[in-house]
Amino acid sequence: MKSQLSRITLLFFLVVFVEAIANTSEREFLLLTVATNQTDGYQRFIRSVGIYDIPAQVLGMNQKWLGGDMNYPGGGFKINLLKKELLKYKDDPEKIIMFTDSYDVILLAPVEKILERFDNLEARVVFSAEGLCWPDQSLESLYPRVQKGKRFLNSGGFIGYASQLYDIITSAEIKNTDDDQLFFTKIYLNEELREKFNIKLDHRSTIFQNLNGATSDVELRFKGREAYLQNTVYNTNPLVVHGNGHSKLVLNSLGNYLANSWNPEDGCLSCWDNSIGLEDKPKTAYPKVLIAIFIEQPTPFLEEFFQKVLNLEYPKNKLHLFIHNNVKFHEEIVNQFILKHADSYKSVKRIEQKDEIKEKQARSLAIDYFQTKKCDYYLNIDSEAHLDNPNSLALLIVQNRSIVAPLLLRPYKAWSNFWGALTPDGYYARSSDYMDIIHNERRGLWNVPYVSACYLINASVINNPETRPIYSDEQLDPDMSFCKTMRDRNVFMYVSNRMDFGHLVNGDNYDTTKTNSEMYQLLDNRWDWEQRYLHENYSENFNPNKTAMQPCPDVYWFPIVNPRFCKEFIEIMEAFGQWSDGTNKDPRLLGGYENVPTRDIHMNQVGLEPLWLEFLKQYVRPLQEMVFTGYIHDPPRSLMNFVVRYRPDEQPSLRPHHDSSTYTINIALNRPNIDYKGGGCRFIRYNCSVTDTRLGWMLLHPGRLTHYHEGLRVTSGTRYIMISFVDP
Ligand SMILES: *[C@@H]1O[C@H](CO)[C@@H](O)[C@H](O)[C@H]1NC(C)=O
Ligand SMILES: *[C@@H]1O[C@H](CO)[C@@H](O)[C@H](O)[C@H]1NC(C)=O
Ligand SMILES: *[C@@H]1O[C@H](CO)[C@@H](O)[C@H](O)[C@H]1NC(C)=O
Ligand SMILES: *[C@@H]1O[C@H](CO)[C@@H](O)[C@H](O)[C@H]1NC(C)=O
Ligand SMILES: *[C@@H]1O[C@H](CO)[C@@H](O)[C@H](O)[C@H]1NC(C)=O
Ligand SMILES: *[C@@H]1O[C@H](CO)[C@@H](O)[C@H](O)[C@H]1NC(C)=O
Ligand SMILES: *[C@@H]1O[C@H](CO)[C@@H](O)[C@H](O)[C@H]1NC(C)=O
Repeated sequence: MKSQLSRITLLFFLVVFVEAIANTSEREFLLLTVATNQTDGYQRFIRSVGIYDIPAQVLGMNQKWLGGDMNYPGGGFKINLLKKELLKYKDDPEKIIMFTDSYDVILLAPVEKILERFDNLEARVVFSAEGLCWPDQSLESLYPRVQKGKRFLNSGGFIGYASQLYDIITSAEIKNTDDDQLFFTKIYLNEELREKFNIKLDHRSTIFQNLNGATSDVELRFKGREAYLQNTVYNTNPLVVHGNGHSKLVLNSLGNYLANSWNPEDGCLSCWDNSIGLEDKPKTAYPKVLIAIFIEQPTPFLEEFFQKVLNLEYPKNKLHLFIHNNVKFHEEIVNQFILKHADSYKSVKRIEQKDEIKEKQARSLAIDYFQTKKCDYYLNIDSEAHLDNPNSLALLIVQNRSIVAPLLLRPYKAWSNFWGALTPDGYYARSSDYMDIIHNERRGLWNVPYVSACYLINASVINNPETRPIYSDEQLDPDMSFCKTMRDRNVFMYVSNRMDFGHLVNGDNYDTTKTNSEMYQLLDNRWDWEQRYLHENYSENFNPNKTAMQPCPDVYWFPIVNPRFCKEFIEIMEAFGQWSDGTNKDPRLLGGYENVPTRDIHMNQVGLEPLWLEFLKQYVRPLQEMVFTGYIHDPPRSLMNFVVRYRPDEQPSLRPHHDSSTYTINIALNRPNIDYKGGGCRFIRYNCSVTDTRLGWMLLHPGRLTHYHEGLRVTSGTRYIMISFVDP
């Protein structure tokens, strides 16, 4: 019974299917569009036409656009091109022609669906509709009222029988620079002609969705593997979407998904379109790239930045460098880089701070330099952009887009190098998919209105005088100016998170007056700080297969910071130099009295107190919780955080004492038997000493009662240790 039923259903669908084919072949369908340039928008249009296998023909390609500036009334050129084409079909009674714009249109369905909706409208010709009466608002009152739906004609999309369309188009003359929408509007508003030609408007977007003024009418939805557009006001799902007027950015963002571009199951399908092969090319045939580096403000971790530029996997003799350093403090790093590596690059052009060239100007000069070197790609890298992935450059090239930026994020933050949307006045707005993208819950290639910090521009954009980037808009910052010109000139900017490329550092609180200023960056740039300073085996401390080292009872021993940390920490203390005098009188303390004095410098004296408390919380507390289970104090408190200096001619040792802490940490900042002789820590109750302390390793032990201890005598050299009394 059941199988018979499904057989009947199957048969039913088969009949419908065959009939649908028969219907479309009976009534031939052709999509016509006008495009004079293969812009990014045009490519997107053509792609969607291909996805739905729609027979289409492009009119006007590579011709000079004669229709005036499309931001103003004009476009009669389109009608005149169309007139010529329709002549071929005017006598074919079954021919159905759909016309759409191309740069700002995406097709969303195959021909059968379009024809079905057309039939349902019971008209010979259907124009798309919108909520604005344009270009002549005085015609508003002449429009028939509609109960529900958009009232006014938009000529960016229409469909009808070829014969009727031809009659309409030839019913009056139109100059190339006249307005096409006005032309059709006048015919539509003439009741006699409207009835004669049986013209209707698609008021409720059953076929055509104009987005201008209607962006909140629509929602992107997914059904299985397909993204579709839902008009939630009229409960329709339009088959053609048109990002007219101010809505083109909304179209760009919908276009990231629609027409089989992205779905939750397959991810990014459009990412594979047009991509080029690089691996199969011999290195000598690699494209030439200008890497333009801009250091416009003091930036932490610049040393690592240059290392990552150097690490890019790409033949260096195909790379030209342009460096604008606008920060005196960074001169030395730039000099070192150029000294050591300039020779391996094809060419290096440097502009220094003393040249007094402003950012805008420097960015324009870089574009000029690009052109004199006849490069194929322009890679902009600002100093906060770290390309951790050495394949970044190659991956971006392979993507073959006009402009493509690697997604870079400040680690643990929502701050990235792109904007998903814009406010009406051109500033940041959060798109609905922004968080999904930055968290890599959606990976792909995203057409966005703003990218910065790092992006690759194809030479075709720079070498075309109509799309050459402009950084020098008077009113705008250079990055804003760049993106605005690209948007205005319809060049798409993509950001890719198909792979992990790197991250952004945060220069907001970077104080270059400090000794070893990166040391102070734990709070602002934790990720980079860890790379530079944390012990390389720190995470091994948590390996469940290992047991923590215990050199004395309840004294635990962990690798925590690396040699560079130790060296720079000592440098900070010695540069500051105000070691306490080792007497009981200590004005730094609340009571002014220290029972067991050492020669030391407190963290708050060198501005490192906030950093140190964060250090205790991030790196010490988890270790404490692991070995002294059940004691949880988050965040740990500590008033006494200091570096102690032991040396024979000053204070060589410390008498037995208890620490006023729940637990104490003691990090060795230099090495026994190399930097000093003697030294170490003895726990008296257990008669147990730790003298073979290890650089960057931390002793962690209870402070009161059980762990009465002393500092053993240093017999030569200087010993430095970092101490905290946690939870006093
Ligand atoms: C095919 O065309 C016929 C007549 O024009 C119509 O009755 C029928 O519903 C169409 N079928 C489909 C599947 O569109
Ligand atoms: C469009 O194409 C014409 C002719 O090929 C060319 O002169 C013009 O620069 C192009 N415009 C853009 C924006 O690319
Ligand atoms: C690169 O992109 C351009 C423009 O989209 C396209 O014309 C070209 O065919 C693409 N190259 C390859 C190798 O696919
Ligand atoms: C990028 O430039 C290459 C040649 O340098 C060209 O073949 C390709 O089509 C361009 N791609 C785009 C998207 O413009
Ligand atoms: C980290 O651990 C590995 C494996 O135990 C060891 O070979 C390496 O020397 C350690 N690194 C440091 C800096 O101690
Ligand atoms: C711990 O040991 C087990 C078994 O030998 C192994 O499968 C696991 O990967 C180890 N874990 C770590 C973190 O090394
Ligand atoms: C403490 O240890 C040292 C060396 O391990 C040993 O010589 C000494 O006798 C011990 N002292 C006591 C009181 O046990």
